[in-house]
Amino acid sequence: MAWWSDVGVWIMMTMTIISFVQAEDSNRFFDFRVTYGNITLFKTDPPRRVILINEKFPGPELHLVTNDNLIINVHNDLDEPFLLSWNGLHLKRNSYQDGVYGTTCPIPPRKNYTYAFNVGDQVGTYFYFPSLGFQKADGGFGAIRILSRPGIPVPFPQPAGDFTLLIGDWYFWDEKKLKARLDGGRMIPRPYDVLVNGNGKSASTSLTVEKGKTYRFRILNVGFHRSLNFEILGHMLKLVEVEGTYTVQSMYPSVDIHVGQSLSVLVTMDQPPDNYSIMVGSRFLDGQSNYKLFLNYTNPNSKRSKVVPHKEPDNEIDYSIEQARSIKTNLTASGQRHNAQGSYHYGRVKISRTLILESSAGVVNRKQRYGLNGVSFVPADTPLKLADYFKIKGVYKVGSIPDKPGKKGMRLETAVMEVHHKDFLEIVLQNREKMVQTYHLDGHNFWVVGIGNRWSNWSHASRREYNLKDAISRSTTQVFPKSWTAVYVALDNVGMWNFRTEIWANQYLGQQFYVRVYSPANSTRDEYPLPKNALLCGRASNRHRRDFVP
Ligand SMILES: *[C@@H]1O[C@H](CO)[C@@H](O)[C@H](O)[C@H]1NC(C)=O
Ligand SMILES: *[C@@H]1O[C@H](CO)[C@@H](O)[C@H](O)[C@H]1NC(C)=O
Ligand SMILES: *[C@@H]1O[C@H](CO)[C@@H](O)[C@H](O)[C@H]1NC(C)=O
Ligand SMILES: *[C@@H]1O[C@H](CO)[C@@H](O)[C@H](O)[C@H]1NC(C)=O
Ligand SMILES: *[C@@H]1O[C@H](CO)[C@@H](O)[C@H](O)[C@H]1NC(C)=O
Ligand SMILES: *[C@@H]1O[C@H](CO)[C@@H](O)[C@H](O)[C@H]1NC(C)=O
Ligand SMILES: *[C@@H]1O[C@H](CO)[C@@H](O)[C@H](O)[C@H]1NC(C)=O
Repeated sequence: MAWWSDVGVWIMMTMTIISFVQAEDSNRFFDFRVTYGNITLFKTDPPRRVILINEKFPGPELHLVTNDNLIINVHNDLDEPFLLSWNGLHLKRNSYQDGVYGTTCPIPPRKNYTYAFNVGDQVGTYFYFPSLGFQKADGGFGAIRILSRPGIPVPFPQPAGDFTLLIGDWYFWDEKKLKARLDGGRMIPRPYDVLVNGNGKSASTSLTVEKGKTYRFRILNVGFHRSLNFEILGHMLKLVEVEGTYTVQSMYPSVDIHVGQSLSVLVTMDQPPDNYSIMVGSRFLDGQSNYKLFLNYTNPNSKRSKVVPHKEPDNEIDYSIEQARSIKTNLTASGQRHNAQGSYHYGRVKISRTLILESSAGVVNRKQRYGLNGVSFVPADTPLKLADYFKIKGVYKVGSIPDKPGKKGMRLETAVMEVHHKDFLEIVLQNREKMVQTYHLDGHNFWVVGIGNRWSNWSHASRREYNLKDAISRSTTQVFPKSWTAVYVALDNVGMWNFRTEIWANQYLGQQFYVRVYSPANSTRDEYPLPKNALLCGRASNRHRRDFVP
């Protein structure tokens, strides 16, 4: 249990860790009980209803090792259906367990469901979250940490401590109220404040560290709308990991973490002992107060030094774009491999299809909707993956989302894009809005090959600027205001995978679709069969499962 010996720190952070280290057994069993609770997040507010997991807000952190089997029995004690999904964790050949409504039936109130899947070759920092409706606004999320198997080299020395910070903006309204507003076609206010590990600004939290030592900070933006900036006053941050990929290790005075993203930095306590503020503030939006947490150096005989936040250039967006472009994959480090034993390099693969996805907003049936290429997603009555399995017709429509933006206007569809197993896609995300957008693909990482300048449109000529050498591989990318981001993705994971914005209100109002990665082979080498304990619902309720012959 050597990798989290700083128990004092964890207690101060009011975090809980569930873990057990066993020599041989790679089955990790967890029991999650999901309940409501009341907590006071801000001193002056009345208690707010939240979703607890095992009485915790945020939920317990899962510590896993590469290739572990995660077996997690989720008991739903809420008064409405519940599902957990996994942000950035790729369920290989196993979209049935992905825990979004397009793949998995919701767990009814007072029922339970046991997820079981292998975490594969991933290492790094991920999170779980409630995927249905707006439940995430009440909590129910938590971090997942996957460590390398012993003996696998990690591209930096073992840090003296490893902290997880779940940061994110937060609504005062609870999930039911938010959902009712959106269902009624009305807008909701922007999230109000920022929480760090479930603490509001009024909570006084600190992390105790020792001078001269180096610590790892895993920072995850589990919020809804705001890009956040992370800074430790007086200290430089060495970026080492982004969503499971070891990066070229560069130093930054502060790092941006957009909604749904996660990363790790190493920080050496090389300043005079003092209490240093950790600032978590919103990026690009004025008038928002910063959240502060303290870094407390242990050395009683110290003089206080005055440290101020580093001065940034006037243009925050250009600065952030520059930072985003500087994040690269360390090609010589160990870690997840996105291609079999280096059999190809992403920069040399022939692109089988180009998608240009443009965000759209519009009013349909007098209700505000969001979409991509003029199509706004509406959930079906049956998970799409189960419709596939039981061959139930008419649940979703393949080909309903065009590859390129076209006519004006907005249509409602249960949109599924069909792609072939091993297709290699170029996806251009074009943002016509003034806000930062973030997009995520389940089941896959993509290479972020190009990030446009502010006020720029993508064109064929933009390809000349692509990084075809060491682009970062990740599962969630931001698209800067009135700009574009281009990614390459190898669709090597058969299944039904959700592509969505992480801006949660937009996601709820239709800015998402599913990618059906199809293989005609009908083999468990490509896809596992429907789990034996799978819940059935909608038009699949009375179906009888047939099993693949392995
Ligand atoms: C939360 O507080 C409300 C109002 O006081 C109360 O009705 C409810 O039972 C509480 N819920 C829990 C889970 O304690
Ligand atoms: C529900 O939990 C029980 C144990 O509490 C377990 O035996 C059962 O398999 C679980 N059901 C599902 C569908 O996972
Ligand atoms: C990349 O990883 C290697 C292998 O672990 C390490 O030695 C090297 O310092 C890293 N390079 C950079 C630039 O981060
Ligand atoms: C930091 O603040 C705490 C609490 O206010 C205090 O106990 C501690 O001595 C301070 N440490 C330094 C180095 O100033
Ligand atoms: C800072 O660290 C010192 C020494 O470990 C400890 O006594 C003190 O309580 C810490 N301060 C805070 C605010 O946690
Ligand atoms: C980008 O495209 C939009 C829509 O076609 C157009 O209005 C805008 O002027 C273009 N911007 C630039 C910088 O070319
Ligand atoms: C897949 O294989 C199973 C067992 O061999 C068979 O029952 C089933 O019909 C096949 N499905 C398709 C789509 O070919």
